[in-house]
Amino acid sequence: MLDLKISNGTVADVSETYAADIGIKNGKIVAIGKKLGDATRTIDATGKYVLPGGIEAHCHIEQESSSGLMTSDDYYSGSVSAAFGGNTCIVPFAAQHRGQSLADVLDTYHGRAGPKSVIDYSFHLILSDPNDDVLHRELPQAIADGISSFKIYMTYDRLIVDDGQMLDILAVAKKHGALTMIHAENNAMIKWMSNKLVDSGHGAPKYHALSHPRTAESEAINRAISLAGFLDAPILIVHVSSEAGARIIADARYEGRKVFGETCPQYMFLNMEQMDLPGMHGAKLCCSPPLRDRASQEEIWRCLQNGTFQVYSSDHAPYRFDDTGKLHAGPDAAFPKIANGLPGIEMRLPLLFSEGFVKGRISINHFVALAATNVSKIYGMDHCKGSITEGKDADIAIWDPDDTRTVAAEDMHDNMEFTPYEGMEVTGWPTTVLQRGKVVIDGNKLLAERGEGTFVPRRTIDCTGMPGRVAPELDPAINFGVDFGL
Ligand code: URP
Ligand code: ZN
Ligand code: ZN
Repeated sequence: MLDLKISNGTVADVSETYAADIGIKNGKIVAIGKKLGDATRTIDATGKYVLPGGIEAHCHIEQESSSGLMTSDDYYSGSVSAAFGGNTCIVPFAAQHRGQSLADVLDTYHGRAGPKSVIDYSFHLILSDPNDDVLHRELPQAIADGISSFKIYMTYDRLIVDDGQMLDILAVAKKHGALTMIHAENNAMIKWMSNKLVDSGHGAPKYHALSHPRTAESEAINRAISLAGFLDAPILIVHVSSEAGARIIADARYEGRKVFGETCPQYMFLNMEQMDLPGMHGAKLCCSPPLRDRASQEEIWRCLQNGTFQVYSSDHAPYRFDDTGKLHAGPDAAFPKIANGLPGIEMRLPLLFSEGFVKGRISINHFVALAATNVSKIYGMDHCKGSITEGKDADIAIWDPDDTRTVAAEDMHDNMEFTPYEGMEVTGWPTTVLQRGKVVIDGNKLLAERGEGTFVPRRTIDCTGMPGRVAPELDPAINFGVDFGL
């Protein structure tokens, strides 16, 4: 006897779309097909899509920024909001600030997430202090403990790593099978532009969009790919906002380099014109990299459609429009002191379903790839998550493709008082969400308790099909036998 059966729905994976029932027992998918037999409970999915639960792999939850500012969402509100948006797993950041040990950082974040998250979770580390102990003892230990990815920053004074530190980190990642995520923007260009703008009286929030030029992004992406390519270490360029940056990633992938690309809904659905608001309201849309122009939105869509971006994440970084968040440096602070980041964990998938799948820009299979499957493979979770496959966790989102709603902040479940997508009409919403076979979202009801989510240790990174090779100078076959320990 099955515990649960989802019947009469349309199931989709990354390549097929078919009519099937799903049988679930002990939290796992145990059967897919027709005539599956009796179940204790049946959910009728007639007219609906039965898809893998989303995996949100870039979000900042209960995280202090480098200037000590706490996000407005903790692991309860952040995970609830994610679940209402069709996600069954989140991978937020555990941020190391300078002087902190990775063991302490991970203890802190396990303590934050464990008692509160309503859905499963893992962490990426943020590395800002790659000293010898971190590099050669703590990082390998963290990878062995299932934290097989970490983010580094090429900008922000309190987080930035220089090129030498990047090489050190990339070498450790390569050796231990981890993936380095890179925030690629040229710090000096941003500072130069910011100083010029503020000094000439252009400190209003909208000028943030000018202060992080596209060239700052493309220069840093190019440098990151060169450094990683030198060592043949896998990297993922996060939150790409410009076509110039995307092209560098596409070229590197064409050459077989181990490079993945990520973009975010804000670069597809929002643009810098929307920052031109009275007073400080443009601060709500300050994020880095910044919103670009309308033409960029189309370019980013194209790069999502053509596979340049394998990952589509919210980069949910929730700061309220008050002195606890966006305006922490004062009610009329110049843009360099405005907290960076947008909320969007709940809207990531409905926006893509509506504007991507329903409007015919991507197939339902591509939607599934971007919602869950690609991320599960890239981040080492596909042994248990990311697709509707027998033996995997029964993490499932049932989508109603005919449900049309107008987006409103008051309907979101995060701890924010605004959404950048206010007023948009969105067709297609998750109506039932199951985590390991248990219903966590039923319509507008939350059925999960705090702490029901569990930590997902992740495996090392699989770069099959991405040949790459170390630079000749590092290759003992042609460098007179020098072993660089890679
Ligand atoms: O503006 C953003 N994206 N804030 C979040 C931090 C980051 O760099 O992803
Ligand atoms: Zn970033
Ligand atoms: Zn981020």
